[in-house]
Amino acid sequence: MRTPIIAGNWKLNMNPEQTAEFVASIKNELPESSKVESVICAPAVDLDALKKAAEGSELHVGAENAYFETEGAFTGETSPKVLNEMGIDYCIIGHSERREYFHETDEDINKKAKVLFANNVTPIVCCGESLETREANKQEEWVVGQIKADLDGLTAEQVSNLVIAYEPIWAIGTGKTASSEQAEEMCKTIRETVKDLYDDETAENVRIQYGGSVNPANVKELMGKPNIDGGLVGGASLKPDSYLALVNYQD
Ligand code: 13P
Repeated sequence: MRTPIIAGNWKLNMNPEQTAEFVASIKNELPESSKVESVICAPAVDLDALKKAAEGSELHVGAENAYFETEGAFTGETSPKVLNEMGIDYCIIGHSERREYFHETDEDINKKAKVLFANNVTPIVCCGESLETREANKQEEWVVGQIKADLDGLTAEQVSNLVIAYEPIWAIGTGKTASSEQAEEMCKTIRETVKDLYDDETAENVRIQYGGSVNPANVKELMGKPNIDGGLVGGASLKPDSYLALVNYQD
């Protein structure tokens, strides 16, 4: 059985002090990790504060990005090796904002996935189509292409442990959620792609999140779909009450 995983993506928000306050106000009300895994992915400058504040609680900690090298002359980058040393569990890679504003390619994302696995940090690999691609009804071929390129050369064991986040770009920060049917349809296609690339067991194990205007009012319906195992949540993860309502969606 796949454990549901709800992850906040704070993007470029919060400072260490706000981070510590936020975690202090939620840490005793999180679901047991065996029931729902609660994750917060924060800016690199907040990770130390986040990790310390989360100690002894059910909260898992993630980064929003990392580089595909672990050390050297790469000014401004974040090392997967140091994320591991800090006890960071997850790292988002390939978010559409990084693809668009920082020109990240599937090749970069694939290299990042490999280096993160080598350093015991679980990647959350993002994929998703633009409005233009969906209007041209090319979304499946687009997302399948991203998955094939991003997972290239990963082992079945790695993919079994991976998290994939399907985030249609037109639903991010717009208040326009994909319908639960649209989200389920694509998450199913992603699982079938993993089955074609690997095997039944790997496809059964990989966890697939939906992201794009997820909020406390729509999380339950989305999570009720058989191929949706979690949410990757931006705006609605920034307030403690709303974050708690998301991770406790089963109550
Ligand atoms: P919103 O939840 O703000 O739409 O953001 C989604 C997202 O990009 C999460 O990674």
